[in-house]
Amino acid sequence: MRDQADRLREIISRLKTQKEESSPLMESTPNQKKCRVLTITSGKGGVGKTTISVNLALSLGKMGYRVVILDADLGLANIDVLFGISPSYTLLDVIKNEKTIFDTLTEGPMNVKFISGGCGMQEMANLEKEQLESIIEKISFLENVADIILIDTGAGISESVIRFVLAADEVILITTPEPTSIMDAYALVKTVSYNDKNKIIQLVVNRARSEKEALHVTRKLSNAVETFLNIKPYSLGYIMYDSNIEKAIKSQEPFIISHPRTLVSRQFSEIAHKLMRVNQDRSKNTYGLRGFLHKFINVNNASWYR
Ligand SMILES: Nc1ncnc2c1ncn2[C@@H]1O[C@H](COP(=O)(O)OP(=O)(O)O)[C@@H](O)[C@H]1O
Ligand SMILES: [Mg+2]
Repeated sequence: MRDQADRLREIISRLKTQKEESSPLMESTPNQKKCRVLTITSGKGGVGKTTISVNLALSLGKMGYRVVILDADLGLANIDVLFGISPSYTLLDVIKNEKTIFDTLTEGPMNVKFISGGCGMQEMANLEKEQLESIIEKISFLENVADIILIDTGAGISESVIRFVLAADEVILITTPEPTSIMDAYALVKTVSYNDKNKIIQLVVNRARSEKEALHVTRKLSNAVETFLNIKPYSLGYIMYDSNIEKAIKSQEPFIISHPRTLVSRQFSEIAHKLMRVNQDRSKNTYGLRGFLHKFINVNNASWYR
């Protein structure tokens, strides 16, 4: 815990010393038709972010929403593995001006598309302001084909992941019942709370062994976050442990497609419904994808750590 706090401080002070730029975000106004951008993250790795990104996206797609998943995990290109489809291009090809954003969109089942981020988003931090504006414009075309953009990130404690979390209006925070996973999730919210008390944090407990265990974990994490960080997280629900989830990866078919009539598939669907019910009012006032991209670039503008 001590090590992690040190590491967080180090990342934040590095972000803070980067050069400041004015935010063009303020020049636009929120628009009710903008798509929702949600960052899916966790403190600890291997807790089910990619599994949840894919199966939640498919559940939302089944409800008729147009969903795009952005695979922003630099470590492993996970999303394509779960879909069993290899993308031809990545976001980096768009940044390098070699492809359009539509060339990078890979069609999956049920209204779901995905984009492999490559190191595209990270590259954006190195661009000049004019280039950036034109890239943001290009990526923002996605708003025409998506109602919801889910960003699947790597594990929580890295500069890149913290950028994604700080830039999105809404975060889906995944934890398992393991104490280290809960502690790392708390540490991540703590970092976020220094910058943004209004961020919408939505919890999902994954790999629960019983409803009782899931509710206990939700209560424990929510209480700590509310009491010490003064943020009220929302619970989206929980997903039970199911050994077939690992098998679905091997067969390269997403779980809710290969196992539609299981408890876990129902739980994914419940989470999708809850996500579309809760926070609708608050998420209406977002700046959509454009706002997300501007915030991602200007992450160093805010006062990160006090
Ligand atoms: N509810 C679950 N029950 C059983 N296994 C799961 C569950 N969720 C995820 N897994 C397994 O846990 C491992 C890590 O999941 P993954 O989605 O890749 O995590 P992350 O993206 O957070 O690193 C994978 O092998 C996956 O199949
Ligand atoms: Mg992953």
